[in-house]
Amino acid sequence: MMSRDYNNIIQLINSQKDNFPLDQLFYVDKSIYELDLETFFYNQWIFVGHQSRIPNKGDYFIFSIGNESIIIIRESESQINCFYNVCRHRGSQICLETEGNSKKLVCPYHAWTYNLDGKLKNARMMYEDFDKKKWSLIKCNSKVFQGLIFLNFSNQPDDFNEFIKPLKPFIELHGLKNAKIATKKVYPTNGNWKLTLDNFHECYHCLPSHPEYCQVHSKEYIQAYGAGNNTGPESKVFNKKLDEWNNKTKELGYLTGEFSEINFSNFFRSAERTPFDDNRLSETKSGKPVSTLMGNFKNFDGGYTTIGTSPFNSLIMSNDFATTFTFIPRGPMKTDVEIMWLVDENASEGKDYNIDELIWMWNETTIADKRIIENNQNGVLSKKYKPGPLSTMEIGLKKLKNWYLNHLKKKLT
Ligand code: FES
Ligand SMILES: [Fe+2]
Repeated sequence: MMSRDYNNIIQLINSQKDNFPLDQLFYVDKSIYELDLETFFYNQWIFVGHQSRIPNKGDYFIFSIGNESIIIIRESESQINCFYNVCRHRGSQICLETEGNSKKLVCPYHAWTYNLDGKLKNARMMYEDFDKKKWSLIKCNSKVFQGLIFLNFSNQPDDFNEFIKPLKPFIELHGLKNAKIATKKVYPTNGNWKLTLDNFHECYHCLPSHPEYCQVHSKEYIQAYGAGNNTGPESKVFNKKLDEWNNKTKELGYLTGEFSEINFSNFFRSAERTPFDDNRLSETKSGKPVSTLMGNFKNFDGGYTTIGTSPFNSLIMSNDFATTFTFIPRGPMKTDVEIMWLVDENASEGKDYNIDELIWMWNETTIADKRIIENNQNGVLSKKYKPGPLSTMEIGLKKLKNWYLNHLKKKLT
């Protein structure tokens, strides 16, 4: 396909069948991939880390996507700045390490030097009329919310408050602003970002592929809520449990309920609080807590909070730890799945929590997901791949697919 041959893409969008996954080209084609980055990743608020990764003045890390590289650096206790990693002189990248600490940002090419607020401090041998005030580093739209560092690459970003509003109480409940990263891992996955997310948005595969997940969650939950609210056939058994738990949890004074998008918009968000089964208190092998309580919790409420802030981020939270996901497209058939495990900032490793227990479920599950996504990508590459009919447990995938196609069409027409 020719790059920028939009008519072909529009025709392809129009030919997609309602209850089927996407055609091969959407999962393999380079020009669609590039269009996807522009249309989706660069137009969403996406969290790329947590403030506890850069606790000291001058601590920084780099977030890269496509051709962009962003320096995320702490200027002071209360200020984190996000700059395009592009020198204002002749454009060299400034930070070449993926993380570190620096009291000022010095370009390795001709040594233009910037303060941590992005202002140009020194530039040698310039003409007399040179005004260094005009040559600060360019900021990337950013917002630190509950310790999560969100970026938005758009020239006209959606209003952050409007974006976060329906999810705010669900996130705030867990006190992530007073959390720290216990550990983080990247799972490089040889699959297109949509194939990777298709998998994340259905739990039809959970029974055959995720014994750990099925050990922790009941089959009724998996059927009705495994990929989020309203993504599978309703379960009367689970609804009854949910009603009972909602009443009990409201009495304890904690948040209950769910949110899902009603109208088509730039946002693709969801959230819900649901009970664990069998007196479990946390998403662990034993069902017992693995760390100290976080946020507003004074006792364990036996509940579980799952949130999608966009297709590229999810938060899955027990009362004592949070597992966060960032899905980063790396190429037409490559996606990094980046996971952070957050615990209360005062919890100490070895005493209050143990990393192996903490990561057990999502580490095992994400390793399995990587394998099944890669198998899927290999099959989709065959000339004999044709989308097959979706099941009643793949409503989440269908929602994501429709949102994707509608957006792409809107962008191109
Ligand atoms: S490109 Fe950075 S100082 Fe010249
Ligand atoms: Fe999975």
